[in-house]
Amino acid sequence: MAVHSLRKRLLVGNWKMHGSLQGNAQLLAELKQGAGSALACDLVVCAPYVYLSQLASCLKGSAIAIGAQDVSAHAQGAYTGEVSASMLADIQCAWVIVGHSERRQYHAESNQLVAAKLRQALDAGLKPILCVGETQQEHEAGVTHSVIIEQLRCVLDWPLSDLQKICVAYEPVWAIGTGLSATPDQAQEVHALIRAQWPDSIAHTLHILYGGSVKPDNAADLFAMPDIDGALVGGASLHAHDFLHIAAA
Ligand code: 13P
Repeated sequence: MAVHSLRKRLLVGNWKMHGSLQGNAQLLAELKQGAGSALACDLVVCAPYVYLSQLASCLKGSAIAIGAQDVSAHAQGAYTGEVSASMLADIQCAWVIVGHSERRQYHAESNQLVAAKLRQALDAGLKPILCVGETQQEHEAGVTHSVIIEQLRCVLDWPLSDLQKICVAYEPVWAIGTGLSATPDQAQEVHALIRAQWPDSIAHTLHILYGGSVKPDNAADLFAMPDIDGALVGGASLHAHDFLHIAAA
């Protein structure tokens, strides 16, 4: 499809709660070396907050951008333990994941809270990746479409200038960390649904990433689908070889 080729592929690694100064240094050096060979996609690594400064210094001069895995819904103030969007921007962090299913599940993040975080990210000039996805139970009940539409609803009436800066990741919860990726057709169906919710005039510019057990051996088939513009990768992003293999796909 012609419009597909206009969207440069985007590959985002989500390290989740993994890493150490020493291990990260090795992984980042390998990524930096591998990414040097002009990949046809943009690369982002989302690390735990405490390592973002390490990423900023290790990845300086490389084409790999830095992202956080969460952000506060508040701009500043007495919110112990929180990290604001402007703090992330301050340390050269360009991207942030918002509304990951693990935040929704273990930290009771509602669609409204996710929207407030998204607002903060946009106001600070960060590029947010809004995660949506249905649980196993919802998948089996056949309510995937309504769940996804509900998760998107609180931002759909935002100005085009905001929507243009948002990237969406479809991560079916049943596929995360299970080795059970959605099939390319299953993912494509939901990606097309997501694109159809976006205002017509900018729908073709929206990047929609797939996440959930993306590995070197299934990436190419997923990326061949017209509405899959890249991936949000968990486990495989912890291994430079696997992450770069997915990038090459
Ligand atoms: P896995 O790639 O480990 O399934 O994780 C996906 C994910 O949650 C990325 O945000």
